[in-house]
Amino acid sequence: MGTVSNVLYLVLFFRIALELGSINASRFKFTNFVCDSVNETWLAVHQCRLKAIRRGTTTLSFNGTVLKTISKFRVHGQIFKRANGFKPWLYNITFDGCRFLRKPYEAPVIIVFNLLKSFSNLNFTCPYMGPVHIMGLHIIGEQIPVPLPTGEYLIQIKWYISKTLFLSTGIKFAFEENFSSY
Ligand SMILES: *[C@@H]1O[C@H](CO)[C@@H](O)[C@H](O)[C@H]1NC(C)=O
Ligand SMILES: *[C@@H]1O[C@H](CO)[C@@H](O)[C@H](O)[C@H]1NC(C)=O
Ligand SMILES: *[C@@H]1O[C@H](CO)[C@@H](O)[C@H](O)[C@H]1NC(C)=O
Ligand SMILES: *[C@@H]1O[C@H](CO)[C@@H](O)[C@H](O)[C@H]1NC(C)=O
Ligand SMILES: *[C@@H]1O[C@H](CO)[C@@H](O)[C@H](O)[C@H]1NC(C)=O
Repeated sequence: MGTVSNVLYLVLFFRIALELGSINASRFKFTNFVCDSVNETWLAVHQCRLKAIRRGTTTLSFNGTVLKTISKFRVHGQIFKRANGFKPWLYNITFDGCRFLRKPYEAPVIIVFNLLKSFSNLNFTCPYMGPVHIMGLHIIGEQIPVPLPTGEYLIQIKWYISKTLFLSTGIKFAFEENFSSY
């Protein structure tokens, strides 16, 4: 094979790769992040915010300090999808936070945890007191390992110690899938 046809093959290869890339392109963007109902006996929240780093990309940061030793907590997570207001969508899960930190369980929670753990210090186990942070979390559409319809979503997560709510977090994101360019 001559040099010219090698170059042609390369050009063809990159064109196909580019086209495949755009066929599978999808966009993920955090649009809102709030932390409220903070019980300051248990938790101090230093930072809870989104930051735009470039067009179409936002990062999420949470920085808090657990002020009293926690040896048991419960997490209630629910996903909503926008359709004339946010409506419950697919998942409504309550799980044992300390058990999860010991050994992750519940598939949808594992998916979310896998996306954020490298941005966090969430590698401790209970009992725990001290810093808790997720800094500069960003997600690109291609990292979402499950099919997700285009839309706006809200993940509401409530954190409890026995019956006491000590933090309520709401994360909104927009997701746009694009498999339709064939
Ligand atoms: C899908 O991707 C193609 C190629 O990148 C783009 O031209 C088109 O606007 C996209 N469609 C939607 C609905 O995003
Ligand atoms: C905050 O937590 C403390 C200790 O568990 C509890 O006594 C108090 O009632 C909580 N405050 C609220 C507003 O829930
Ligand atoms: C979190 O906030 C505390 C208090 O402001 C600060 O000392 C600490 O460095 C912050 N942690 C991170 C990871 O930014
Ligand atoms: C979700 O689960 C919580 C706690 O188990 C329950 O109170 C709530 O009604 C559920 N919501 C829906 C829409 O099923
Ligand atoms: C958690 O991660 C930090 C930083 O990567 C490391 O220094 C620490 O030893 C880890 N702790 C545990 C319990 O694995």
